[in-house]
Amino acid sequence: MSKSRDYILLYINGKKTKIKDDLAFKSLSDFLRYEKQMVGTKIVCSEGDCGSCTVVHGKLENDKLNYKIVNSCIKYMYQLDGTHIITVEGLKLNGCLNPIQESMVKNHGAQCGFCTPGFVVAMTAMFEDKNKLTQKDLKDGLNGNLCRCTGYESIIKSGMDVDASKLTYFDQMYEPQQIIDDLKEIKQIPIFIETSEKKFFSPVDLKSACEFKALNQGLTIISGGTDIGVQINKGMRDPNTIMSTSAIDSLKEISVKDEYLVIGARVTLSQIEAFASELYPAFYDILKWFGSPQIRNSGTLVGNIANGSPIADTTPFLFVMNAQVELSGINGVRQVNINDFYKGYKSLDLNNDEIISKISIPLLKDNQKLKLYKVSKRKDMDISTLTAAFLMDENQGKIESIKIAFGGVGPTVIRLKKTEEFLNGKYLTEENILQAGQIARDEITPISDVRGSKDFRLKLSENIMKKFYFECLEEEQVICQ
Ligand SMILES: Cc1cc2nc3c(=O)[nH]c(=O)nc-3n(C[C@H](O)[C@H](O)[C@H](O)COP(=O)(O)OP(=O)(O)OC[C@H]3O[C@@H](n4cnc5c(N)ncnc54)[C@H](O)[C@@H]3O)c2cc1C
Ligand code: FES
Ligand code: FES
Repeated sequence: MSKSRDYILLYINGKKTKIKDDLAFKSLSDFLRYEKQMVGTKIVCSEGDCGSCTVVHGKLENDKLNYKIVNSCIKYMYQLDGTHIITVEGLKLNGCLNPIQESMVKNHGAQCGFCTPGFVVAMTAMFEDKNKLTQKDLKDGLNGNLCRCTGYESIIKSGMDVDASKLTYFDQMYEPQQIIDDLKEIKQIPIFIETSEKKFFSPVDLKSACEFKALNQGLTIISGGTDIGVQINKGMRDPNTIMSTSAIDSLKEISVKDEYLVIGARVTLSQIEAFASELYPAFYDILKWFGSPQIRNSGTLVGNIANGSPIADTTPFLFVMNAQVELSGINGVRQVNINDFYKGYKSLDLNNDEIISKISIPLLKDNQKLKLYKVSKRKDMDISTLTAAFLMDENQGKIESIKIAFGGVGPTVIRLKKTEEFLNGKYLTEENILQAGQIARDEITPISDVRGSKDFRLKLSENIMKKFYFECLEEEQVICQ
């Protein structure tokens, strides 16, 4: 291993902070509240759901600090090296309330006040990009913040009533150059921290990451930590050896190359949104309902794939697109079609020395229709009961080829090969779709759980086929025969 350091360096509200030993393994919310007595950051759910622990996370991107909101309860200190955290305490202007806080007071945006710091931090970050927020901006931007007593009307009103002339941006509050220079200086040095119980490694290149993984069987790779953070907080996982991929620059790239969108393992879901809106509008719509802004700012596509959940929202899309998963290991790189990547419930085709380095998704062709569905009890911030993806090449109402993938109907996301075979070469008619729905029922093996019974999911599978058909019909792009 090349020369490494044994500390995490970050800035908190403009103050340089060095973290060593056991403190590196604390959650950010605990660190702020119990080590720094910065109790403005509240903890309610500890699982990324309520947003009361929201802080701003500034990351170095192209020699600038790019500030986004995240949930501090599911971020661990070892994930924060080379970043700048701004908490609600750090938003005061010359010791006084900032214009967002003033507006919350004026518009009665708080009652018990427990959620208020989270809302104030989230809104302040929204004003970084826009001087005037609409009701829609606020509703979309605040869907990771829950309030149980005030009611959202006065909070939204507060956001719309902010005096923009008084706004101050993060780079004005915190002179960026010194922070950037300091963070850049340590960026290329790997971190190795070992305590009596735990080990943490943050390599700066893929080769070291693969070597370390090979030597430490059972280690936990952490990316955005939105799955792992919840699992740790809820006592479902207590990793002894953790490796972060956050300092490996080659994993942070996203670009269109040779008819593929190529997404590095450290690219966040928020970063993918801009590409998806142009290249795969149906996938963009799914991403908009993925968790919350806080979750999308941390969580990655690769984390969603590697977590291996059969109800992961991105996977059915990747299945029908025949996305390629790039696996990097000690002896080089191999590509696996995502349709072959899952061997069973949360079991992946991943060798001991391998990490996922990239996902390559073919671009849509002109004659292809892509439709994606997420069925859940609520629209905002909910876990899917069933997910479905359809990719159809059609010519004048005739299905030249169709790919269908369902999630939430078995131990992994699956392709409905028999249903596809039945529909290929047929006209897209109601009769054919009804028959296909019956075949689909026979291809899946759903179970009953809190989100829906087996029978409900079987019926849903048929109905989602009909929904696909009627939507195609509505778009008048098919000729029925
Ligand atoms: C409040 C909340 C809402 C959510 N909403 C949704 C939702 O709407 N839809 C949905 O599908 N999911 C949702 N999730 C789950 C989670 O956000 C996603 O699965 C996310 O994509 C995980 O990405 P991550 O980078 O945070 O992964 P992490 O938590 O860092 O890692 C997840 C898994 O991937 C492994 N891993 C990470 N990187 C690599 C790599 N390079 N190679 C090999 N293995 C790797 C890790 O070891 C771990 O097992 C939600 C989670 C929370 C807390
Ligand atoms: S405490 Fe609820 S999201 Fe962190
Ligand atoms: S003000 Fe009480 S939860 Fe929002």
